[in-house]
Amino acid sequence: MFEFLNADQNTQAADTISPPPSAARALRAVPATPTTGAARNQPVRRQWRTALAEAVSQANVTSSHFLGAPRLQPPHPRTPRFGYVYVPDWTYEGVMRLIVQDGATALLLEGAHGGGKSDLAAFIAMMLGRELEIITFDGQVDVGDLMGRWVLQQGEMVWRDGKIPRAMKSGAILRVDEINAAPAEINIVFNDIADGKPYYSREADELIVPDPGFRLIGTMNPHLEYAGTHALNAATLDRFTRVEVRYPSKAMERTRLRLNFPSIRDEDLDVLLDLAERNREQKANDPSREYVISPRALVKTCRQMEHASFSLADAIRYGIIEKAAYFGAEIADALKADVTAMIAARAQQP
Ligand SMILES: Nc1ncnc2c1ncn2[C@@H]1O[C@H](COP(=O)(O)OP(=O)(O)OP(=O)(O)O)[C@@H](O)[C@H]1O
Ligand SMILES: [Mg+2]
Repeated sequence: MFEFLNADQNTQAADTISPPPSAARALRAVPATPTTGAARNQPVRRQWRTALAEAVSQANVTSSHFLGAPRLQPPHPRTPRFGYVYVPDWTYEGVMRLIVQDGATALLLEGAHGGGKSDLAAFIAMMLGRELEIITFDGQVDVGDLMGRWVLQQGEMVWRDGKIPRAMKSGAILRVDEINAAPAEINIVFNDIADGKPYYSREADELIVPDPGFRLIGTMNPHLEYAGTHALNAATLDRFTRVEVRYPSKAMERTRLRLNFPSIRDEDLDVLLDLAERNREQKANDPSREYVISPRALVKTCRQMEHASFSLADAIRYGIIEKAAYFGAEIADALKADVTAMIAARAQQP
């Protein structure tokens, strides 16, 4: 969830972008990020991730206090701004590098629902001070919305660019949600623009040359696991750099929730995180299980506790179990039993 900055707020955002002194101190202790992906760097990466998570939690930084990201341009009026504390992680670091250093024009973020794909793209746009243009393939969008159409203006037919040419010309970050649901005629357009090449629009009779800042970020759920979705065709996929967005580690998810919901008790967070861990392990062992507790579901559960003063049990009921029941009473009952056992075990602790 984020909103767009308006012109007045831009100046304010630019002023607050440097980390507060507490954050700067904590962040200085974070070792430099490893620059190559070789297996021998795994321990360094782990170390880095833990240090980053700790620094973020100690320093009380907000998403506008980014940890060392280059701000390439002053913010555009349609730069997103976050209403919650976004915690950047290793995937963020990698994607940012692909966008800024490698200069990849098209990225595909693929991963299970509620794992942070869309907000990752929005956060990157915020950090780079770029305009974010969003397309969601929800069955309502037509080619005219995307490519443009002729409209009647003061008695004359004039061409009005759609979202894609607009983003290409202005150098926006174009986030395409559920990109694998795009109709075939749009897929063909993506094939051209994902290569960073100019695109000839026949209807407008115009060669659209992309601004060097233009980036296309597609997001999608893994097509094999989600009913109603389909694979990207091989030619389209070939043009994208594909990045898997996995659910965060338990430590990272704890940091996210702790920073966003400071009033929730540690013991309650433990129950939520243990429940999610168990459920996700079950899903990993048996991919046919339909219900998985997403990071989004944990956020909603915490929000119910913090904002609506729900008890832990009630919040779990509305945030998790009622949804699980949609996939069958058996799954919901198993979760209910887990929660009851966890809460009882906790009550017995001295
Ligand atoms: N890095 C982060 N730090 C803190 N919270 C996060 C972070 N990333 C995601 N979230 C939380 O997770 C929620 C879900 O993220 P998002 O909507 O980006 O998921 P998604 O992968 O696009 O989901 P879907 O597949 O359903 O479209 C966000 O609304 C936010 O509350
Ligand atoms: Mg999304």
